[in-house]
Amino acid sequence: MVSVQDDSHTFHKEASLRLFKEAEEVIPGGVTANIKHFAPHPIFMKEGYGSKLVDVDNKEYIDYSLSYGALITGHGHEAVTAATVDQLKNSGTMLFGAPHDLEITMAKKINELYPSMEQVRFTNSGTEAVLLAIRLAVAYTNKPKVAKFEGHYHGGLNEVLVSINPSKELAGNADYPTPVYESEGIPEDQKDTVVLPFNDLEATETILRKHADELAAVILEPVQGGFIPADQSFITGLKKLTDELNIVLIFDEVKTGFRVALGGAQSIYNIKPDLTTLGKVLGGGLPVGAVGGKKEIMMLSAANTKGDVFAVGSDSDKTQNVVFHSGTYNGHPLVLAAGLETLRILEEENPLADVISHTSELRARLEALYHSYGIPMKTLGLGTIFNIVFTDRAITSYRDMWEVDTNLREAIDMELLDNGVYLKPLNRYSLSIAHTEEDTKRTIEAHEIAILEVLPNIVKRDKIVAYG
Ligand SMILES: Cc1ncc(COP(=O)(O)O)c(C=O)c1O
Repeated sequence: MVSVQDDSHTFHKEASLRLFKEAEEVIPGGVTANIKHFAPHPIFMKEGYGSKLVDVDNKEYIDYSLSYGALITGHGHEAVTAATVDQLKNSGTMLFGAPHDLEITMAKKINELYPSMEQVRFTNSGTEAVLLAIRLAVAYTNKPKVAKFEGHYHGGLNEVLVSINPSKELAGNADYPTPVYESEGIPEDQKDTVVLPFNDLEATETILRKHADELAAVILEPVQGGFIPADQSFITGLKKLTDELNIVLIFDEVKTGFRVALGGAQSIYNIKPDLTTLGKVLGGGLPVGAVGGKKEIMMLSAANTKGDVFAVGSDSDKTQNVVFHSGTYNGHPLVLAAGLETLRILEEENPLADVISHTSELRARLEALYHSYGIPMKTLGLGTIFNIVFTDRAITSYRDMWEVDTNLREAIDMELLDNGVYLKPLNRYSLSIAHTEEDTKRTIEAHEIAILEVLPNIVKRDKIVAYG
């Protein structure tokens, strides 16, 4: 294992630093989402176009974050922008606060691409989608708890803010992980989520059988973090098990949806989960989430069958509660217009195959570059998402990432930020239809400069692991 000791790296982003200091006065930590933070300070952006971002110091970057994967058509795609603006102009309003036809069009489109999603509800974020999926599962099974996999991220809910990035010291046995909660402010009596080991069917089966009577749902990222794929046998076995044990299987495809394939990871694995959550790409860059799945589960939220807090008049005598789901902005017309245009581009112009082969090409060239310097490195991922890990060992689950050299990765990432390649340090790469051959060439050059900067400083040191 190699790592970097030297801190002489120069990170001169003066306007960003100024804004960060100003932001810190009025915004905790200077950021509105903790994922946006990194040391010494995040970079403030002011413009984006195609594959590029421009920061407040007027420095241009090739963007491989793409808002954590959301922008599959790149920044400011003309047709997506036009569809959004046209929706606003033609309807004359931002928001109806009532049903409208784009909701039906989008629900049908999702059902066409994700046949497991027989019915669909819209939310404003992936986190909200997970919230509804879990509530539906609890109502459907009449069981109280959720199981999730170690290393998997599902947004900011109490039930799933556990064992995303636990330390070796706290994580317990590999085949029966100790739940490690990752936020202050979660009441002790709510800390009852069961944690499972990814890609280990035998251990997962033992834990699920032990807790079967209390588990409403198993939720997973079918491709952990967007870059560690489930083994086919694992995911097939998991589906069989959850069916047998009357546990709702939730595929969280917020990252993988429309990115690893148009039909998500479930189309690759040929599995129909009971419920699926989507987000990111679905909104074309605007805030979105969706939950869909088996009609008999989804119908538990249908307001015309039972009552809820909003029941009035002729509905108020419905004494049995429906599964609550509401939201002022759910199914926002501008969001759905941007999302539908994004999906139209992906489907009708069919560029996803090109983005996937472009991604493979970039991965191959990066591997060749690092290997030419004798650095143990590989890229991991599926479709249009990948990550770089400095190791030559197999990576199939969260704990394997403990053996990866993240200090070297972080040092390289900081150099890349100086050399016009943008990625939150240690995060995964996502590509878009706007990324070009020229971007690949410049990215390889930037990596080579980073290697030459970092190599002389390489020494042995401890490591850290990051997620997002
Ligand atoms: C797999 C997964 N689930 C849920 C979420 C939460 O989505 P959001 O940030 O839109 O709330 C994310 C966000 O990165 C995610 O990657």
